Amino acid sequence: MNVEIKTIGVAGAGTMGSGIAQVFAQAGYTVSIYDQIPAMLQKAKSGIESNLAILVSKTKITEAEADSILGKISFTSDIENVKADFIIEAIIENLKAKQELFKELSILNPESILATNTSTIPVTQIAFGLPHPERVIGVHFFNPAQIMKLVEIISGIETTDEIAQLVYNMIQKCGKSPIKAKDAPGFIVNRVARPFYTESQKLVEEQVASVEDLDLLLESAGFKMGPFKLMDLIGNDVNFSVTKSLFEQFYYESRFRPSRIQEQLVSGGLLGRKSGRGFYKY
Ligand SMILES: NC(=O)c1ccc[n+]([C@@H]2O[C@H](COP(=O)([O-])OP(=O)(O)OC[C@H]3O[C@@H](n4cnc5c(N)ncnc54)[C@H](O)[C@@H]3O)[C@@H](O)[C@H]2O)c1
Repeated sequence: MNVEIKTIGVAGAGTMGSGIAQVFAQAGYTVSIYDQIPAMLQKAKSGIESNLAILVSKTKITEAEADSILGKISFTSDIENVKADFIIEAIIENLKAKQELFKELSILNPESILATNTSTIPVTQIAFGLPHPERVIGVHFFNPAQIMKLVEIISGIETTDEIAQLVYNMIQKCGKSPIKAKDAPGFIVNRVARPFYTESQKLVEEQVASVEDLDLLLESAGFKMGPFKLMDLIGNDVNFSVTKSLFEQFYYESRFRPSRIQEQLVSGGLLGRKSGRGFYKY
């Protein structure tokens, strides 16, 4: 196995994948980002370009550095082009889709480390059936990945300590603050943060307070974003599926019960910022 990580592959060029690709390119890695939908690659490219332009305007990087960072990223809709030492997937939050993708990637990359950015699917379950489950690991970035420092490094049952340490060191070199966690429902942050979302939605359902007032209240209490603004940023589809998954994994403990108001938004395509409307209109 290659112990030195030089090249990075990112599968999925949506909200998370594009930010993750930027993080690695900024840290000097050569990155190829893959998505099955070419339009998502275009969107990711312009998103990264505008993020870099902001850094230039704040004089955090020069224009030449921005060009060099963008030049490190190649965009592809052909999975055959994803050949890298370390590959992280940030595709749809669906076990079958992630397993199928990893099966294909592990044939193309028999020596590589395969990482998942899953929010709640057990890493051990994703690794099941793959030729090298000891090289499968959770690397959970937070949204927006290019800004948020925290990254959870999750070892599945079969992940070796050597791989976990290697990945931990690499993430630290990218300027992030990694923490190691074991494979448990919601890992750490999504478990601890669940009541922030579910209780806030219950308060709205019970007409105790409005979406706007709850956001204002929690922001005044020191949170950077209120729960409804944050759910719209995360994507209501993503946030709802995370809650559903935790609810199931905790054997239907009522404190993890998903909200009907969020389910209704998801079923109506009101996904948040990415669709132009969620709890708020954009
Ligand atoms: N959105 C968040 O705040 C957040 C935070 C942490 C982790 N996550 C996790 O990251 C992952 C991605 O979430 P997101 O919000 O970026 O989703 P997203 O919907 O914004 O993007 C997913 C992308 O994956 C692509 N895709 C889907 N299936 C694919 C496949 N089989 N092969 C290649 N590309 C495929 C889609 O075309 C899309 O561009 C999920 O597992 C999610 O749980 C999300």
